[in-house]
Amino acid sequence: ANIPKYVEELLIPPAMPPVGRRGDIVEYRIGVRQFRQQVLPRSMPRTTVWGYGSVAHPGTFSYPGHTINARAGRPVRVTWINQLMDSRGDFLPSLEAVDPTLHWANPPGGVARRDSTPEFSRTPRPYGGPVPIVTHLHGGHSLQDSDGYPEAWYLPAARNIPRGYARVGSFYDRFRAESEQRFGVRWRPGSATFHYANDQRAATLWYHDHTLGMTRTNVYSGLAGFYLLRGGPSDLPDGVLPGPPPGVGHPKSRRCFDIPILIQDRSFYADGSLFYPNSRAFSGYRGPYIPGTDVPPFWNPEFFGDAIVANGRTWPVLRVEQRRYRLRFLNGCNARFLILKVADDPVARPARAALPIWQIGSDGGFLPRPVRFEQLRIAPGARFDTVIDFGEVPVGTELWLINEGPDDTMSTGAPDVDFVPADPHTTGQVLKFVVCPRSGPDRSVPPDQLRLPSLPSLGAAARTRRLVLTEEMPDAADSAAGPVRMLLGTVSASGAAVPRMWSDPVTESPVLGTTEIWALRNDTMDAHPIHLHQVQFQVVGRGPDGTAPPGRGDTGYLDTVTVPPRQTVRIKAHFDIPGRFVWHCHMLEHEDNEMMRPYEVVRRRK
Ligand code: C2O
Ligand code: CU
Repeated sequence: ANIPKYVEELLIPPAMPPVGRRGDIVEYRIGVRQFRQQVLPRSMPRTTVWGYGSVAHPGTFSYPGHTINARAGRPVRVTWINQLMDSRGDFLPSLEAVDPTLHWANPPGGVARRDSTPEFSRTPRPYGGPVPIVTHLHGGHSLQDSDGYPEAWYLPAARNIPRGYARVGSFYDRFRAESEQRFGVRWRPGSATFHYANDQRAATLWYHDHTLGMTRTNVYSGLAGFYLLRGGPSDLPDGVLPGPPPGVGHPKSRRCFDIPILIQDRSFYADGSLFYPNSRAFSGYRGPYIPGTDVPPFWNPEFFGDAIVANGRTWPVLRVEQRRYRLRFLNGCNARFLILKVADDPVARPARAALPIWQIGSDGGFLPRPVRFEQLRIAPGARFDTVIDFGEVPVGTELWLINEGPDDTMSTGAPDVDFVPADPHTTGQVLKFVVCPRSGPDRSVPPDQLRLPSLPSLGAAARTRRLVLTEEMPDAADSAAGPVRMLLGTVSASGAAVPRMWSDPVTESPVLGTTEIWALRNDTMDAHPIHLHQVQFQVVGRGPDGTAPPGRGDTGYLDTVTVPPRQTVRIKAHFDIPGRFVWHCHMLEHEDNEMMRPYEVVRRRK
């Protein structure tokens, strides 16, 4: 479809309203529903999406979800309620892409796993049951029972659920018991109450779905939102940066100078509905399914959309005043790496940087000092907290946020070489800035003069783990199909990769209170963004064997790091919460097909 660009304003997600306070704890009740929203410009049809919203305020349901504004030291408690069933039609095209042949939530009563029934292996059917959900706070320092473990999914507590579907994931029961004990929380069918202590550095976090084997389709359908943690010693005093504080509240797009921007690629049918490939034929495989092969029939190795959506609208325009802005970029694409630049021409390539982008923070909060970039390379899942100064730009000037990343996997280690940049007319553009007069003085500190809070040290590493990123190709006859699955694994004494499946026993079990180095070796031809739950880590080495020094962009704390092909990235993390967590690739198609492993922080060495 031909989607007109820059006709709608960038939407700034308003604040998610709490439902109350109990002592120090701010309480939210957040539902997940299906609704229609104007994602495309108003001249085009609306799009059916899934989104979060406060059940006490029906008007808050939106994609992306409203922003949870949290304060350091003030805990937040969210009851996440699955409401995807009571009205009919909770079935998006993306759900047809759920691949029942993978390891996935697989609610009882659904389709059986591959080959467990003869009919299924003759004609595999997509999943058509109620939608399991479980929400993860990405970057959060959460206890295991509030972390959104992929097997802790649950179905809606709706009246119209077919019999036999009422069960929840195997881990859910274990977490429920713990959390009832610890927080006195009462659990009800169809919801889970998670506790976020906010005992970490101020940072740009986000919440999104994490259901086993269907994260890619649930997030694609709209299940994502920001969680901005402010305050505490690791934040700057109000007024130093362009902001909405004090009060935070509901930012109006004018007069809001601290703007989180969620960038995602999507594809649309002419009727406005979302397109997501639901057959392996989209990856050039010759048929939807060939019985007896090991190629998953519905799963595709990666998704790349042909339209860019920022904060839930395609190619929006942002009217900026002649002043500094704090823009917090989040790459929420399923698989696409972004290389962002502010350019004065939307289509010229290579694009000239019209304004520098000052990075002030990464996934885990502020960097030790601001770093000036011409462009930002953002992996799926990662956040870049930046300052862009429009103060010297003449009123009326148009600038574009463009994307020079590829319309494909990132199959190079070196920046800007060896790949074709995204189509300059579509996915090569993100949004347009139009510079307007200033409504008042800009009292924020210029980025090159900013003094940022210092980074706490992670301590000396007690041990190093050698880990590997790998993939499995199908039998020779089907090799055109691309990989069968992506995998993480360990490295044997001789240096050989030992790939592991999600269901294999835990191999990474750091001792509580210790610091470890994980050497992540990428044996594949593509870059993978590797994400660890619970921790914010530091990059300590890069290069072919992981011994080269970290790069210019590696000075802060990360929870997601890109491991370039044929390279090793060494990261250092401190594990201070016991229990079961996960580490995985944040390309959602990879995560959903085995590129995810459990890890367990243990009290005593195992
Ligand atoms: Cu943003 Cu485990 O995920
Ligand atoms: Cu990957």
